[in-house]
Order: sequence, then structure tokens, then C-alpha cells
Amino acid sequence: MNYQQELDASKNDPEGFWKEKSEDLKWFQPPQKVLTQDEEGIHHWFADGEMNTAYMALDYHVENGRADQAALIYDSPVTNTKKTYSYRELRDEVAQTAGMLKDLGVEKGDRVIVYMPMIPQAAVAMLACARIGAIHSVVFGGFAAPELAVRIDDASPKVILSASCGIEIKRVIEYKPLIDNAIKIAKHTPKNVVVYQRPEAVADLSQDGDLDWVEVVSKAKAAPCTPVKGTDLLYILYTSGTTGKPKGVVRENGGHAVAMKYSMSAIYDMKPGEVFWSASDVGWVVGHSYIVYAPLLQGCTTVFFEGKPIMTPDAGAFWRVISDYKVKALFTAPTAFRAIKKEDPNGDFIKQYDLSSLKTLFAAGERLDPPTYEWLNEQFDLPIIDHWWQTETGWAISANMLGIEKMPIKPGSSTVPVPGFNVSILDDNGQEVAANQQGNIAIKLPLPPSCLTTVWGDMDRFKAGYLETFPGYYVSGDGGYIDDDGYLFVMGRTDDVINVSGHRLSTGEMEEIIGTHPAVAECAVIGRNDNLKGQMPLGFAILKSGAEFDQADIKQALVQLMREKIGAVACYKDTVIVERLPKTRSGKILRKTLRQLVDGEDYVVPSTIDDPAILDEIQQALP
Ligand code: COA
Ligand code: AMP
Repeated sequence: MNYQQELDASKNDPEGFWKEKSEDLKWFQPPQKVLTQDEEGIHHWFADGEMNTAYMALDYHVENGRADQAALIYDSPVTNTKKTYSYRELRDEVAQTAGMLKDLGVEKGDRVIVYMPMIPQAAVAMLACARIGAIHSVVFGGFAAPELAVRIDDASPKVILSASCGIEIKRVIEYKPLIDNAIKIAKHTPKNVVVYQRPEAVADLSQDGDLDWVEVVSKAKAAPCTPVKGTDLLYILYTSGTTGKPKGVVRENGGHAVAMKYSMSAIYDMKPGEVFWSASDVGWVVGHSYIVYAPLLQGCTTVFFEGKPIMTPDAGAFWRVISDYKVKALFTAPTAFRAIKKEDPNGDFIKQYDLSSLKTLFAAGERLDPPTYEWLNEQFDLPIIDHWWQTETGWAISANMLGIEKMPIKPGSSTVPVPGFNVSILDDNGQEVAANQQGNIAIKLPLPPSCLTTVWGDMDRFKAGYLETFPGYYVSGDGGYIDDDGYLFVMGRTDDVINVSGHRLSTGEMEEIIGTHPAVAECAVIGRNDNLKGQMPLGFAILKSGAEFDQADIKQALVQLMREKIGAVACYKDTVIVERLPKTRSGKILRKTLRQLVDGEDYVVPSTIDDPAILDEIQQALP
């Protein structure tokens, strides 16, 4: 089949198409109902299938000839550790950890928060939850205590699984004080906090319910796989929306497993036994899908890397890992490639390693900007594939389907819709626009398997945020266009979400935080272009009148506040103090115009602006 035939098959008979794909996995009871709609009108896949994701990802392979094959390779330049887990070893460790969770009273449907650095126990924790039908919610280790607290309250976990510390390039981050603080802030109190002790910073486990991971797991008995329905939840993953409250994206077991498995062959062209490396973090969706679940469901070996593209120890880190483990495909964020390019513009490190195993480079998390694409293209005689997706979908919406038919690459485009996603470009009235015209990127319902079916505990928010803008469509929050050849160009968010180093952040949340500073009367935060990180937040603040404030102190205090409330990953470094902000006559801040002004783009002064002179004032105030 070529791409067009595959796409047509997915459109003409979605149920038949996905039923056939589901047969590539070992179900306890294969689904009879492929696509159903609930009383809210929401579509679900594989409702009556019985399965277990951890079984499909581990036990199945152990039982079918892969027991001694490497399942996971842990490589940690920050601790000088390398360790390989075979499928059997990983299955056994997961089963025993699942037994520990059972001993702690975790049952099917209970939530477990996983707040961990990039150590193999993080994957073990996720799979152990899956094994007993518990719902994991991984919280990125770079988030500060208040972010963790919001997630504790929203997911109400029975248990938190964690480690004593994470290791950044220049510092060790102790997790336990952050967790204790988060539990203090939160209304909900988990029954237990289980901590994997690392020698770099051993945690004090003296709070009620604190447990030592190794100790409790060693006492546990291996737990069998609990059968779950295709529509039972595998995980909740929080992502930034436009307000301070993150959205709990939910993922159902059945659709997820089918989409993951399909994507490994159709998009990534990976066969069982081959080595796949997603250089991301388990705290993000890329880590969920392509460090943990998809490679294992496909019977591949996944690389679990605790390091950075640079400085661990140098800009050759990625190439060293690829040559050490014969990686066939690398997937990372463009920001990582930009960081490497900055340190090693001539690709000297690339030449030092045997990269003959490498067949493709994949990028996502933000647009692969043409200059970075061109640099990669000069360095490698390989397909450099940009593909576009979101936490909400769990896998690519548009990509170059290498396993089906490699399409010509157009720099700046994420190529074509993945079969299952009916992508349309709509104007603000919901009408389809012509080719090459920019608009809102929307996906015609039903969404394919793996996509979110609600926001955890908040169906109204799911409907209002995604389904009601354009009836019959899911609205992605991204803008872009489709060209004459059907190629999709994703040009950026249409809402207040920004993308910093491939990390999705909410400027609305940052504004809420700045607004809590006693000196600030009003503020706005925008994402400005950044050559390395893609975007960086920039704040504008109007100070309260009548009081004397030291501007430098306030700017410093806001940086500190952002680190304490969101975490260092927010990369909040600058605030511009202004007298006024550009607004419409009805009082809405013109953030888009602000951003265009800061980025030096041409802009049209909005006809609704209250006073155009403010734009000159802002221009003067910029550093
Ligand atoms: N735990 C604690 N802190 C973390 C963290 C974590 N897991 N991850 C990042 N941080 C901190 C960093 O230490 C840094 O702190 P600092 O301001 O005190 O120096 C801050 O958050 C900003 O981090 P980052 O934006 O990642 O910048 P960096 O300069 O440390 O590294 C890159 C730059 C490009 C090397 C890095 O961003 C990178 O590897 N990006 C890839 C992103 C990625 O994988 N995204 C996932 C989507 S595919
Ligand atoms: P996240 O949910 O954290 O994966 O972030 C999803 C958002 O990142 C998308 O809505 C886009 O704005 C952006 N994004 C991810 N991949 C790409 C890509 N290949 N091209 C353009 N934008 C992307």
C-alpha cells in the first residue's frame, strides 16, 4: 500500500481499518465493538476488548522469544552508569513493583503519581501501574512544588512514587522536600510516598507514610496482569492550557496500544528487535509514548538516557549513544539539535562516531525550523523528519510515513496527515479555507485511537476547550496551512500556550503568578522568539501607583517567584516595566501585537486598539 491508499482506507472504513490494526496486538479478548459513542457523544475505541498494556509490552514478548533481548538500556552520563534490562528482567521488576503497589492498597482505577527523574524505575513505575490497572500520572521532575500540588489535588493519588533526587548538569535536585511541600500545599494527602534512594542525595523518610522503594519492593510478591477494558484509563498526563490549572489529558488503554504499535511501523519504520531512542523525558508525552510504551509494544529496545545533548560531557553525547547501542532512529526536540549545532557548528563530534546504524532523525515538540533542518541535512545523509503532535493525541497527527511510503521532504512542513486524522484548516467562522491559506488546524471527528476522550474530572472543559469552537471538529490550538500538495505547515499556537525548549507552558499561568506580586497592578506575558529555545517568556508589568518600588528588585523577585511556582523550566528571565499596555477599546490586552512588536515582525495596528501611541511607548521600553 502507498500512503494515499492507506489514507483512503482509514477514511472509507475507519472501523475496519482500526480493527485490522488492533489484530497486531495480543488481547485477552479481542474487541468486537471497534468504535462507540457514549451518552456525551464522545467517541471511544475498542470498548469491549480485554487487555493489559503491560502484558502486551512485556509478558507477550517474554512468552514469544524475546525474553533475553534488551528491552531497556539505561545510559546515565550524569552518574556514570550503564545498565541493560532484558524483557524478562524488566517484566519481573515490573511485576514485583506492581505487587508492592497492591500491598499498599492500590487497586484498578486508583491513581498513582510518578514524580521521577530519568531512571529506569520511572518506566518500571509506569508499567507496574498499567499491570494492575491503576492510572499513573507522571509529573515532570522539573516542576516545582505548587505544580505538583495542583496535580495531587486533581488526580487524588493513593500513592506517590518518586526518587530522592534528579541530577541536572550543575546541580542535584532533591525531590523529597519538594514532595513534602507539595503535600502541605495540597488538600489531598496520598497514603504513601515511596522513594527510590539515590546516593547523590539520600532522602529523609520520616514523614507518615514514607517508604523506601527497595525495601518495600523486596518484600512484595510478583503481581499478575489485571485485565482491563480497552476504554479503561492507562494514564492522566497534565498539560498546560491557557489558565493556571493544567488539563489532565486522559489516555485509554486500548486505543493507545493500537496507535503506538501502528505508529512504530507506519511512521518510524521500526521492526521488533531494533533499537529506538527518544531523547526526551518521561514527564512529557514524547517520553510516555516513545521512551516507554511504543518501543516495548513493538518488541524494540528503548534507550533511557539521563543526560543532555550538550555538557554531559559534550555536544557529542547523542552520537556516542547512537554508536554505543546501534540506535536505528533518534527522536528529539529541535531545541536539542540547536543546542548541539551551537556547540559544534561544523559537526566535528558527529565525525568521531560510527553512526552507520542510524537510519532516520525525527523531530517534534516544536516546529523543526528550516535553518536547523538545513544544518542537520548537511551533516547527515539521512531523512530528517519533522512530525507534529500534542499531548492530547499521544502520537503524530502529521508525519512522513516512512514505514508506508517516504514522501519528499519540504523544510518547515510536518508533511502529511497520519491516516486516522482528518485534518482541515478552518477560518474563525469554521469554514474550510483554500490551499495555502492560514487558519485554525482542526481535526474532523471522530479522532483516531489514543486521543483524549475527556479532561480528567472535567467533561465541560474538554468540550469547551476542544469540541465546541467548531462543531464536528477537534480544535488543535495550532494555526497553519495546507499547501497545494497536501503538505501541512504548523506555524504556531493560536492561544496563550508557548513552547520553551520543547516544553509546553502557559503564559496565562505566568500572568496569574506575576499578578500575585504586591507591586504589580497589571501584566501580560508573551512568548518571544529565541534562537536556542524556540521561545522564551517575556513579561510586561504595570506597577501600582503611589508606592516607591525598586524596579530591579521587582524584576528579580518575579524571576524567583516563577522558579518557585512553576520551576526553572519556565525559563522566565525578563520583565519590562511599562506605564500602559496596548488594549482594545473593550479592555482586552493585544498580546499578539505585543509579540509581533517584540519579535520585530511587521504588524498591522489593530483597528480595535484603544490608543496606538502605546505601541511606541512599548517599543521605547524594550531592552
Ligand atoms: N528537573 C529539574 N530542573 C530541570 C529539569 C528537570 N528534569 N529539566 C530542566 N531543568 C532546569 C534546568 O536545569 C534549567 O535550570 P537553570 O535555569 O537553573 O539553569 C532550567 O530548567 C531550564 O532548562 P532547559 O530549558 O532545559 O535549558 P538548559 O539550558 O538546561 O538545556 C537544552 C538546554 C536544549 C539542552 C535542553 O532544553 C534540552 O535537552 N531540551 C530537549 C527538550 C526535550 O526533550 N523536550 C521534550 C519534548 S520532545
Ligand atoms: P505538547 O503537548 O507538549 O507535546 O505540545 C504540543 C504543541 O507543541 C503543539 O500544539 C504545537 O504547538 C507544538 N508542536 C509539537 N510538535 C510540533 C511540530 N512538529 N511542528 C510545530 N509545532 C509543534
